[in-house]
Amino acid sequence: MNQQIVSEYYGKTLQQSEDLKTDACCTVEDIPRWHKSILSNIHDEVMAKYYGCGLIAPLDLEGARVLDLGSGSGRDVYALAQMVGPKGEVIGVDMTDEQLAVANAHVDWHAEKFGYANVKFLKGTLEELDQIGLEPGSFDVIVSNCVINLCTDKPGVLRHVFSLLKPGGEFYFSDVYADRRLSKAIVDDPVLYGECLGGALYWNDFVNMAKAAGFADPRLVTARPLTIENAVLQEKLGAAKFWSATYRLFHIEGLEPACEDYGQAVIYKGTVEHSGDTFLLDGHHVIEKGKIFPVCGNTYRMLAESRFADHFDFIGDMSAHYGIFEGCGTPVPFDDSSDPTGSSGSCC
Ligand SMILES: C[S@@+](CC[C@H](N)C(=O)[O-])C[C@H]1O[C@@H](n2cnc3c(N)ncnc32)[C@H](O)[C@@H]1O
Repeated sequence: MNQQIVSEYYGKTLQQSEDLKTDACCTVEDIPRWHKSILSNIHDEVMAKYYGCGLIAPLDLEGARVLDLGSGSGRDVYALAQMVGPKGEVIGVDMTDEQLAVANAHVDWHAEKFGYANVKFLKGTLEELDQIGLEPGSFDVIVSNCVINLCTDKPGVLRHVFSLLKPGGEFYFSDVYADRRLSKAIVDDPVLYGECLGGALYWNDFVNMAKAAGFADPRLVTARPLTIENAVLQEKLGAAKFWSATYRLFHIEGLEPACEDYGQAVIYKGTVEHSGDTFLLDGHHVIEKGKIFPVCGNTYRMLAESRFADHFDFIGDMSAHYGIFEGCGTPVPFDDSSDPTGSSGSCC
């Protein structure tokens, strides 16, 4: 699918969120009260042209430098602008003139509302993110909301993201995934593609693509199944199933391919704003305040080498290894019931 068709879909075909034919590019997640209050400070025209599929609200952003890929009319940029505050900065990138025009039209309005100006929008394609003057290794957090599926070179985009992040930075993003590789007929259908379904990656291809780009241990934060209520589109899609999912990918060199147990643990101090009782790293790590929480080596490093480090006490190091971390999806391949004396008579 070419970028011009996507650009026309978002610049001309769609005028507002209600024009979408499915709930793929449309967030139905519960929005926490603190985030609703942030959204209430955003201009109506920006809100009306929101086409995201997930809640882009990574925590602990005060003072951070954030990049939003495919920022559209700017809803997430203007929300993040309030989360990073006057000492932070948020840059949105999009390729569609009409979307950028709406985002840019309200820069001053939001600066007045917030009491500070900390956003800007750049025109560019995500496939050529290295061509718009962004400095490698300069972002604390990169976000994106329902855009990577629309990109023509997804591995290339992930490589650009890896290079733009600071060490310890993260790519926190929502997108649409399929339970299988989609047929050419689905991928080539302009409406299915524009609606964020035709370009959706098979989830396991995405995981391997992220690893190849340097993000060794992708973490799934949330996922919700999509319902395709439009009968014509559903028929074209056949049995394929879709989810909107939010992943976080940390730029940390040397993360291991599996969860290894070094006997380490963390204790959450309860100090992340809006998350006093529990800290959600991902769907498998909901860490209660004050509790000794055993973690694998990768999780320990994601917390110790990212912006979350000050919110945890850390126990242990990596000097002794205890095997695979139990319950992390990789079982020990050997059968406990084998005869340890080798008396079965087998020679090997
Ligand atoms: C589904 S909309 C999401 C917009 C925004 N993130 C939001 O939540 O409202 C997709 C946006 O990504 C932009 N886009 C799609 N492919 C792109 C690419 N390859 N490079 C830059 N922008 C792209 C489109 O112009 C459109 O504004």
